[in-house]
Amino acid sequence: MKVILASDHGGVSLRREVSEVLEELDIEFEDIGCDCEGSVDYPDYAIPAAERVASGEFDKGILICGTGIGMSIAANKVKGIRAALVHDLFTAKVTREHNDSNVLCMGERVIGPGLAREIAKTWVTGEFEAGRHEKRVNKIAEYENK
Ligand code: RB5
Repeated sequence: MKVILASDHGGVSLRREVSEVLEELDIEFEDIGCDCEGSVDYPDYAIPAAERVASGEFDKGILICGTGIGMSIAANKVKGIRAALVHDLFTAKVTREHNDSNVLCMGERVIGPGLAREIAKTWVTGEFEAGRHEKRVNKIAEYENK
């Protein structure tokens, strides 16, 4: 599995926590920044990262900003992306099982590092259940491809 990781200035320290989790799990990943001292614009990270997931270069993406909201809105504009904004362990698990989410978004100003690490671990190791959920995910793809 290959994961692409990015944040804006509001998510730098949580991004570091997530990169440690990926290292611990021995998951290959590329961290595309930001390497920012000042502020940057979250779409400049969310959209390129999401495009690289949608193209198949990466299996999954993890995007962090202050709230996670900007990253999720921007990532979900990219065709083929199912970005889930997650701040608890239940939805981290279920969004993989039911939605086959391929991008995880979190907000550094919303949750602490311990919970964020657990969410990242739960989400990145979660499996899509397919079955009845597959036709629902397919309906989203059909809409995108209209
Ligand atoms: C940056 O100040 C902040 O707006 C951004 O990190 C994010 O929370 C946007 O949704």
